[in-house]
Amino acid sequence: MNTGPDEAIKEEIRSRADIAKVIGRYVQLQGKGTSLKGLCPFHKEKTPSFHVNALKGFFHCFGCGKGGDVFNFLQEIENISFFEALKLLADETGVQLRSQERVFIDEKSGVQISKTELLRIHEIAAKFYYSMIKSSPEAIQYLKSRGLSAEIVRDFRLGFAPPGWTSLIDHCKKFGISVSTLIAGGLAIDKDNGNGYDRFRNRVIFSLFDLSGKVIGFAGRGMSEKEQPKYLNSPETILYRKKELLYGLCMARQAIKENGYVIVVEGYMDYLALFQSGIKNVVAVSGTAFTEEHAHLLKRFTNKIILIFDGDAAGQTAAKRAVEVLAPVEVDMSILILPDDEDPDEFIKRAGPDAFLELIKTARHWIPFIIEKVSSEFDISTPFGKSSAVTNLEPLLNIIKDPIVAQSFKKELAEKIGLDEKILYTKSHNNRYNYKSLNLESSGRVEVPDEEKFLMSLEGRFLSILLTTPEYIAEASQYVVPETLTDSVSSDIYSFILDTYEDTGSLDTILDHCDDQVLKRLITSLLVRNSCPDHVHEELVQKIIHLREKYLRVRIRDAKLKMKSEPHRRAELLKEMQDFTTQLQELQRG
Ligand code: UTP
Ligand code: MN
Repeated sequence: MNTGPDEAIKEEIRSRADIAKVIGRYVQLQGKGTSLKGLCPFHKEKTPSFHVNALKGFFHCFGCGKGGDVFNFLQEIENISFFEALKLLADETGVQLRSQERVFIDEKSGVQISKTELLRIHEIAAKFYYSMIKSSPEAIQYLKSRGLSAEIVRDFRLGFAPPGWTSLIDHCKKFGISVSTLIAGGLAIDKDNGNGYDRFRNRVIFSLFDLSGKVIGFAGRGMSEKEQPKYLNSPETILYRKKELLYGLCMARQAIKENGYVIVVEGYMDYLALFQSGIKNVVAVSGTAFTEEHAHLLKRFTNKIILIFDGDAAGQTAAKRAVEVLAPVEVDMSILILPDDEDPDEFIKRAGPDAFLELIKTARHWIPFIIEKVSSEFDISTPFGKSSAVTNLEPLLNIIKDPIVAQSFKKELAEKIGLDEKILYTKSHNNRYNYKSLNLESSGRVEVPDEEKFLMSLEGRFLSILLTTPEYIAEASQYVVPETLTDSVSSDIYSFILDTYEDTGSLDTILDHCDDQVLKRLITSLLVRNSCPDHVHEELVQKIIHLREKYLRVRIRDAKLKMKSEPHRRAELLKEMQDFTTQLQELQRG
């Protein structure tokens, strides 16, 4: 979707807003003119590393890496959405927002559609799907077999999409809604030359709601196992963004406040089963893993989150992933892995709500959870295993902002693996490189990574050794290929080193060959780094092992995640996972 006139309004507000004044309300800024600095409000520090460039309109903290424009600042500090920040600043700068009647343009079809119109269409469709249930004995039977009451079906606006190709399209014609509008709104699929067919056919429909209870999308479940995919979700539209949507939050918000915590489950059915049994402080993610956006949204209602995952391998991986995503958000998060490959829906149907509430009490706080999980992946009775476990947890440790939380993490980790806590302080101090800052793809724009952290990182040390002692390149390249380096900047630098060495037989001219300013700057800093010449080969060997290990872990994790999202490739992915696991075990045996 092209957001059309939005960009212009955003630009106008940005240019009118005084970023120094806005930030000045939260941070005492020092300095003259347009270059200001102060103590970062996003992490604890004693000397100012938080910089504001009032002329260009952005801020950046060299301590924690946070940065952006005035909207980003308000979003982060007030924990609000982009749109809310926009509204605040629109008021302040006197720019008029035509929020309700903005027109959005579907990039593919060029169809213009307003939010109001799209909401109207979803409302019509939800009514239609609900009314179609009675036309299908199979759908009625299916809903019954899942134990859903008539009240739940009505209140949550479940429905049935008939098997025909144009049932919804035909119905919408009566309301003057064109096929191309339905396509732009995600409810029909483009065939060609303006023709289309219904996206949802012969499926049980779950309406997806926004916070005020308006229908903004749908999920359709196939009624038999052979129907693929099991759940078909609306595509992303101006109304539905799966990274931000929590199914059922609208109906749960009151209960969340009353109970003081929220339970997050993975499936729509899990949600409805809990809700129907009287446990109403629940939300479900929708077609995606739990995201940072979800956490920020929930923080508006409660700070206490219990995430529930299935007991299978995919659930375990998803739990670990959630911890990594949420550690920086500063929520009081616990994890519950369900026993015996049951999901919440199956559990509550078998054991009842009281047993479920008892089970909830056994949820583990995320710190002991992740420490135990990672420790169990290594043989922590050996020094190498201990070291690997710590190395594995380090990126996580480094993104915890609250020093008290970080300290208690270190304490628990030290106890668990039987180490002196002080070692962790030195180790983590030497390795404060934040992996996130190097992730170019996810942020969508190129940021210069924090040099100091990068230099001290595993990848940074490895590259630095090769740059200063190129005679080891041949050896290293036998074990490490560019793909082995799991972050893109390091991988690029490594490729560049290999290419240059192959072409010229040395690295003397490497800087002359480098056109990319970011790479050039990093290579320069890696080159000036003096390594300890006595142990450099030993260190290189150790780095190679750790890089291989990290790479294998990432691949195993990816394969596990993919098994969930691409179930038809299960066998192939399982094989892949086993291969990587074997390789990892061999590596660890030395
Ligand atoms: P599960 O496969 O765990 O199914 O998907 P479930 O929730 O137990 O569903 P039932 O009980 O078989 O009906 C969990 C969630 O993952 C998303 C959906 O949001 C689903 O609720 N999902 C799953 C999809 O988006 N597409 C799929 O094909 C499968
Ligand atoms: Mn289920």
